[in-house]
Amino acid sequence: MTSKLGTVLITGGNSGIGLEIAKLMDKKGYKVIITGTNQEKLNKVKAENPSLSIFKSDVTNNEDIQSLANTIKKEFGGIDVLINNAGILEAFDLGKESHPLERQFKEIAINFNAPIAMVHHFLPQLKKSENGVIVNVSSSLAYVPFTQAPVYSGTKAAVHSWTKSIRLHLKPWNIKVLELLPPLVATPLEKNAKITGNTVKLMQPEDLAKAFWKGFQKNQEEITPGIATMLRIMSRIAPKFIFKQLNKIPTPI
Ligand SMILES: NC(=O)c1ccc[n+]([C@@H]2O[C@H](COP(=O)([O-])OP(=O)(O)OC[C@H]3O[C@@H](n4cnc5c(N)ncnc54)[C@H](OP(=O)(O)O)[C@@H]3O)[C@@H](O)[C@H]2O)c1
Repeated sequence: MTSKLGTVLITGGNSGIGLEIAKLMDKKGYKVIITGTNQEKLNKVKAENPSLSIFKSDVTNNEDIQSLANTIKKEFGGIDVLINNAGILEAFDLGKESHPLERQFKEIAINFNAPIAMVHHFLPQLKKSENGVIVNVSSSLAYVPFTQAPVYSGTKAAVHSWTKSIRLHLKPWNIKVLELLPPLVATPLEKNAKITGNTVKLMQPEDLAKAFWKGFQKNQEEITPGIATMLRIMSRIAPKFIFKQLNKIPTPI
């Protein structure tokens, strides 16, 4: 079944921020498709939200993405909105040499390579849409690195930079490119991150989704909910100060 408003594909939509955005856009009348790698989590979300469509698809697997694009084209006629949301965060101390290189590369593959691959495979469908939109979910840490998660911060800064470039490439095609830069949000990613000494108040995923929706409707290029706005401003007017403030404990203990 398709919707008049359009079809949205959200990577990593079975949990946290992606799931809240999926539920909200479903309520607003979009046809929402979500992906993830964990079939059980996908099945549970489907049981609780029958109108969502679920697909097991790994954003780091090129064949998975290609086959997802083919299936979606056949079953839904294509997508109008792509939300590159899947992501992981690893906190570690590089000096200890205990964090495997494969895990650092995997973090890059999920957080940065995957949005590039998703856009590559779904661009033909987005070009056909009358209201094509890409939303890249980076992080407010794209503005200021959080040194306890060094690769994560690097990937998010990379997504931020790439987003600015492709926005201009896709303008002639009338595809809008937005970026969601959340602050710290209470999700499994945050809960499982081995961060030391966090004192920042967590945003609830439902509130994050509402803030996203406001920005999305206005085609806001950088959507910065909660304290993300402050990080954006401080990174410009007092970059050294805000870097120090954020990194009083430079490595996880
Ligand atoms: N929570 C925060 O504080 C925060 C702040 C700023 C930005 N963000 C960003 O927001 C996004 C969502 O994070 P979240 O906090 O909502 O985390 P989350 O609840 O842990 O959700 C992460 C999602 O990514 C999916 N995923 C992970 N690896 C995948 C892969 N290889 N292929 C497909 N899907 C994959 C997971 O599904 P499976 O487990 O089924 O694979 C899950 O649905 C991320 O990009 C994150 O960096 C989060």
